[in-house]
Amino acid sequence: MPKTLLVTGGAGFIGSCFVLQARQRGDRVITLDKLTYAGNPDNLASQAHDPDHIFVQGDIGNAELVRWLLLRYAPDAVLNFAAESHVDRSILDPEAFVRTNVLGTSTLLRVVTNWWADLPESRKASFRFLHVSTDEVFGALQPGDPAFTETTPYSPNSPYSASKAGSDHLVRAFHETYGLPILITNCSNNYGPRQFPEKLIPLMLLNALEGKPLPVYGSGSNIRDWLHVEDHCAAIALVLEKGRVGESYNIGGHSERTNLEVVRTICAFLQEEVPSSRQYADLISFVTDRPGHDFRYAIDCSKIERELGWKPAHSFATGLQDTVRWYLANGRWVENVRSGAYREWLDRNYSSRTTMG
Ligand code: NAD
Ligand code: DAU
Repeated sequence: MPKTLLVTGGAGFIGSCFVLQARQRGDRVITLDKLTYAGNPDNLASQAHDPDHIFVQGDIGNAELVRWLLLRYAPDAVLNFAAESHVDRSILDPEAFVRTNVLGTSTLLRVVTNWWADLPESRKASFRFLHVSTDEVFGALQPGDPAFTETTPYSPNSPYSASKAGSDHLVRAFHETYGLPILITNCSNNYGPRQFPEKLIPLMLLNALEGKPLPVYGSGSNIRDWLHVEDHCAAIALVLEKGRVGESYNIGGHSERTNLEVVRTICAFLQEEVPSSRQYADLISFVTDRPGHDFRYAIDCSKIERELGWKPAHSFATGLQDTVRWYLANGRWVENVRSGAYREWLDRNYSSRTTMG
């Protein structure tokens, strides 16, 4: 049965993938997105003439706008993807993260709860507020530590992860206090098409193509668990449909890699796709580490696998190769996101880092 979904942050990397999948399933989607530097209307260009996709530019912290959207479209669910999402930016400007991730989510929750409380009983029971969160709220692991489960205590280390932890706690509290039917998902690192090139994979890929240094933080031994964005969004849809109200679900790719392995793999794929007499891997440059850099993340996603029957469709090897090909085939998208603001960011984040080798 098609649903009406209010998707916040739907012009970003993961939100846009979810919106496109939801439209393929036949759901009607209202996208609310502030269009920050990371929000990109090009990500939803294919929906420009779609009568069942409504795009609204605005802030999740704008109570009047959110109330109006709820009254106008009466969604069956609200999915909150909107966030400031980049750890390095949170180190340089923590307050922007508190504003959107904590205060914005709080306002969104309050307005949604007030509207939801007046719904007829059957609609009240079927409504869902799904909050998209991250594995970073659990802190950092060492080699050999067991992976994060849904009951691992929160121990965030960056302003980004602390602000996401704050939002998760608020979502849970609105369930306990007001009975709002919530769901939370905590996912590992995503990769795939349309990721803004401030994040590791697209940054390295585009730098390599331009013959620029590939700035690996520290020794490159930090470990992340990688999941294709389409697998993440399919998991979110499953949690929305079948997840138990009030519960959180970990989502991960069973694909732990060191950063150096990831960068070397990108270089190897590029060598195949765009052969160069110079080895792309020679561009790897070890630079000053990220302060408070979490060593390792690993996700135990046995709960969503067992309870909801989810499993990822993409392997990291083929998913990464497809991603490299997507960036090579979408030069216009790439050029459009490399605005002056993007170049300013590169200068701000990388010019003060010392090269170690
Ligand atoms: P992104 O930065 O690509 O997109 C965020 C989107 O939110 C942008 O379109 C932006 O314009 C919008 N936005 C920001 N502030 C807003 C506000 N105040 N009101 C309305 N819209 C606003 O981020 P992403 O990588 O797509 O991440 C989406 C969500 O998934 C985030 O909540 C993030 O914490 C979470 N997450 C990301 C990953 C990952 O690897 N990227 C992994 C797990 C969880
Ligand atoms: O784990 C989920 C999280 O993954 C999400 O919640 C975040 O929104 C998302 O940005 C991502 O966070 P990370 O900090 O892990 O992603 P990022 O791509 O910034 O960095 C991945 C790893 O690569 C990390 O160990 C830092 C390292 N890195 C990153 C950049 C940008 C480098 O070595 N060099 C770089 O230039």
